[in-house]
Amino acid sequence: MSQAETNPQRRMQLGLFMPNCSNAYSISTYKPDPGDWTYESNLKIALAAEAAGFDFLFPVAKWQGYGGETDYLANSLETFTWASALLANTSRIHIYSTVHVPVFHPVATAKMGATLDHIGKGRWGLNIVSGWSEHEFGMMGIDVMPHAERYQRTAAYIEILKGLWTEPPGTFNFECPWYTITNGNVRPQPTAMPHPTIANAGVSEDAKDLVSKWCDWAFISPPSVAEAPAVVADIKTRAATQQRAVQCACYPFVLWRDSAEEAERERRRVVENIDRVAVDNWARGLNIQSGSFDNFTAEMYAFGGGALPLVGTREYVAEQLKVLYDGGMDGFLMVMLDYYQDTLRFEREIMPLLREMGVPL
Ligand SMILES: Cc1cc2nc3c(=O)[nH]c(=O)nc-3n(C[C@H](O)[C@H](O)[C@H](O)COP(=O)(O)O)c2cc1C
Repeated sequence: MSQAETNPQRRMQLGLFMPNCSNAYSISTYKPDPGDWTYESNLKIALAAEAAGFDFLFPVAKWQGYGGETDYLANSLETFTWASALLANTSRIHIYSTVHVPVFHPVATAKMGATLDHIGKGRWGLNIVSGWSEHEFGMMGIDVMPHAERYQRTAAYIEILKGLWTEPPGTFNFECPWYTITNGNVRPQPTAMPHPTIANAGVSEDAKDLVSKWCDWAFISPPSVAEAPAVVADIKTRAATQQRAVQCACYPFVLWRDSAEEAERERRRVVENIDRVAVDNWARGLNIQSGSFDNFTAEMYAFGGGALPLVGTREYVAEQLKVLYDGGMDGFLMVMLDYYQDTLRFEREIMPLLREMGVPL
């Protein structure tokens, strides 16, 4: 039985993996709009995405760039303050922040999150990442913990957030090797029920265990369309054994032109202008103790930082999104070459095709 048959409410949720960092996300010197990372540009893209009917916007949280000729992701807009401004200037679209567990104390995150929930009237969500970059954390004197322990701490972190957001203020107590919370108090509490959406980004065994027990969404990175359904099924089955439901989203790079050849030429332009130094720095950091990105090639990193390439005609891109959706993927954090123009084009050229194919949006 397909996912749609088991859940008639189900629909494809469209989002953008926003360019809140410079040179996002191709590790390449070919970049049609190099200034897209600025706040003004992010706001323009956010308003276009909201007008198109997209469901959510999602940033990347970075503290350091990755060098090379592109100085990959060197300028980055911090994701809580970024979300605050975008929530204040939009009215319908959901907006995420991403927290690195070792950087912000959970009480501070709960407080900032509750504030963002009030600013956005329930439209804010939190992506929680355990933190992997020695390069970034080294700057702060924070050690990157062993993989399994990282995720144990992240589970405790989420338990604390949920406690602070849902228990009567001043009553939540928690003790674990990393945090002691005494009479935890966050007021106002968020308006979103039962609490703001919580996501985790990662696909290791530890990440899948965590997401199935504690999160609403799994943000994952399958290396191909064909391999996606198995990853999704694994996560959803683990959640079902916990009597929980988890939705899954991946980040495809959608690049379409009038002909497949034209689209492929554009993809080649990106990968032929690869910034090898930055690709090496990026891949070296990401693979530490993870295993999640073992099958990724330098070309995949160059094209979209590891995004899943969907390159061809508009019909091809729409079909592949439908294949992923039918295989259990609920949402898409789309990467684009020219975010503003491509968001307008996506609304005009791809969304009608998805509707024609019977995909509920
Ligand atoms: C969709 C997605 C978004 C991510 N966003 C961030 C981010 O903003 N900042 C960050 O440091 N890591 C980010 N990551 C990396 C993950 O947090 C994680 O470290 C990586 O997937 C490896 O984790 P794993 O070993 O559990 O699979 C992201 C990963 C994915 C798949």
